Amino acid sequence: MTKTNQSELVVKDVVKQFQTKSGLVTALSETSCTINGGEFITLLGPSGCGKSTLLRIIGGLETITQGSVTFDGVPTTGPSRERGMVFQSYTLFPWLTVEENITFGLDLESKGSSKERKEVAHRYLDLIGLSDFAKKYPTQLSGGMKQRVAIARALAAEPKMLLMDEPFGALDAQTRLLMQEMLLKIWEGTNKTIVFVTHDVDEAIFLGDRVFVMSSRPGRVKRIQPVPFPRPRQYELKRTQEFVDLSISLTDELREESSKMF
Ligand SMILES: Nc1ncnc2c1ncn2[C@@H]1O[C@H](COP(=O)(O)OP(=O)(O)O)[C@@H](O)[C@H]1O
Ligand SMILES: [Mg+2]
Repeated sequence: MTKTNQSELVVKDVVKQFQTKSGLVTALSETSCTINGGEFITLLGPSGCGKSTLLRIIGGLETITQGSVTFDGVPTTGPSRERGMVFQSYTLFPWLTVEENITFGLDLESKGSSKERKEVAHRYLDLIGLSDFAKKYPTQLSGGMKQRVAIARALAAEPKMLLMDEPFGALDAQTRLLMQEMLLKIWEGTNKTIVFVTHDVDEAIFLGDRVFVMSSRPGRVKRIQPVPFPRPRQYELKRTQEFVDLSISLTDELREESSKMF
């Protein structure tokens, strides 16, 4: 039932420098990559290599020093509802209920009637398995639940692309595995493109169609690793020899990159 999504995102020769008190910091050196519509891309790299910077550039939250970024052939000039973001830290509004958090963006734009917006919220609450929590406040939810709501909120805006910056990084290992499976299930039922940042090798392989491995700072996409495992994927995949072999290969590479910054 997957619909086509032709929206291609092209990053071409992008350089990003930050002006800091101690001078210019080059976060990204000339880097290029193409993300196809409907693809699940994981962006893997050591801490500080520029993953968040690249993701924020794709999301239009950060300017570039050189190069170009186009979405659907059009240069990106700022944030857009076509590219929704989910961050690691919990970004829900504590004074709004779960349902109000999900409809927040739609309410701002007065998109549809309030009844229609509620229906949208409930559709996504159902998808993330939290229908019974519509009237609860964020403080009444666990970390995993909050991130599920953040995902539902991003999806409710119906973006073509979901940009996720270590969204499961603060969760315990068991919850994290469940979240990975839930995200795959959601993605498999949609036409969304996902770009998912992580420094966890197994997470990158388990989720991605392709893993973009970044070099140490200044970062660039240095290896594009296709993930050959069929979908739908279940957690047992992680125990197979093929998975373990790929995991070892990427772990070695990541270790080498990390050691350059150590
Ligand atoms: N707003 C900023 N001002 C100055 N330096 C920054 C800024 N954002 C990121 N950097 C620097 O750019 C590099 C890459 O950061 P980041 O993209 O956050 O890496 P990652 O997400 O891979 O850990 C780091 O050296 C960081 O200190
Ligand atoms: Mg980061």
